[in-house]
Amino acid sequence: MQATDWIDLSGKVAHVTGAGHGIGVAIARALAAAGAKVAVSDVNTEGVAETAAEIGGLALELDVSDRDAVDRVMAETADKLGSLDILVNNAGVYVGYGGPVREITDEMWRKLWSINVDGVFYCCRAAASLMIDAGNGGRIINVASTQAVSPGVGVTYDGSKAAVTQITKALALELAPHNINVNALAPGPTWVQPGEAPPLGEQTPPRSGDPLADSVADRISRLPLGHWGDPMEQGKAAVFLASSMADFVTGIYLPVDGGWLVL
Ligand SMILES: NC(=O)c1ccc[n+]([C@@H]2O[C@H](COP(=O)([O-])OP(=O)(O)OC[C@H]3O[C@@H](n4cnc5c(N)ncnc54)[C@H](O)[C@@H]3O)[C@@H](O)[C@H]2O)c1
Repeated sequence: MQATDWIDLSGKVAHVTGAGHGIGVAIARALAAAGAKVAVSDVNTEGVAETAAEIGGLALELDVSDRDAVDRVMAETADKLGSLDILVNNAGVYVGYGGPVREITDEMWRKLWSINVDGVFYCCRAAASLMIDAGNGGRIINVASTQAVSPGVGVTYDGSKAAVTQITKALALELAPHNINVNALAPGPTWVQPGEAPPLGEQTPPRSGDPLADSVADRISRLPLGHWGDPMEQGKAAVFLASSMADFVTGIYLPVDGGWLVL
């Protein structure tokens, strides 16, 4: 026996949402590198086509907040690739939804929750249904955030990621009899902009008096591991949760955060 056998995903089919940019691209690359066949979806059709071309995967257009489209695309994954064994709910939005509570409009609130929470629920429901019918178990990985337990972006986003974390735990209990493990991956600050991540201090904006923004800026500048997260650090953790290494792991909230939650 070799330890590498424990992370071998040959014969498994994975679907990664929001894989046209950022962390989702790295998760798709990592699952493919571990041997899985990978379907990648996104509203960004150009980005997801590039990801699929690079890893030899299947590109699918999907807005996760569209329930019917989710049902159709999850079924298409299983039809075209033979099964659906691993779902990574990575699609999520945060830029443009923060700020003081009285400046947050109903539209901002509903839009973010329709993607970050409704989208996760729709994808979990569709994938769990396919996994239960197939009878071969499965893995669901929901991308939460350190903000689920340590606020920073604002009520809309922070609340949505707390919801994702509790949805994960409830589903872990419910789906355990079907041998479907459900876990949350909680990235810390991860550099998804083009180019090299700058040193932490350079990214710290001046104190603004906004307690949330100041708390995030302070923590980033003092991040214990001393550098921005690289998306592939999330990809590696996703492979762990998808693989036999995590056979007895379900219902956890796994921070991959450079020590953020220690601060
Ligand atoms: N980058 C970080 O520091 C960080 C930290 C904690 C958690 N996260 C979480 O990680 C996930 C990925 O974030 P990222 O930083 O890579 O973001 P990103 O913006 O770089 O990528 C997100 C992708 O999701 C897609 N997307 C947006 N709305 C969608 C929809 N309705 N349906 C399908 N796809 C949609 C976008 O087109 C984009 O390709 C998100 O859930 C985010 O909340 C990120």
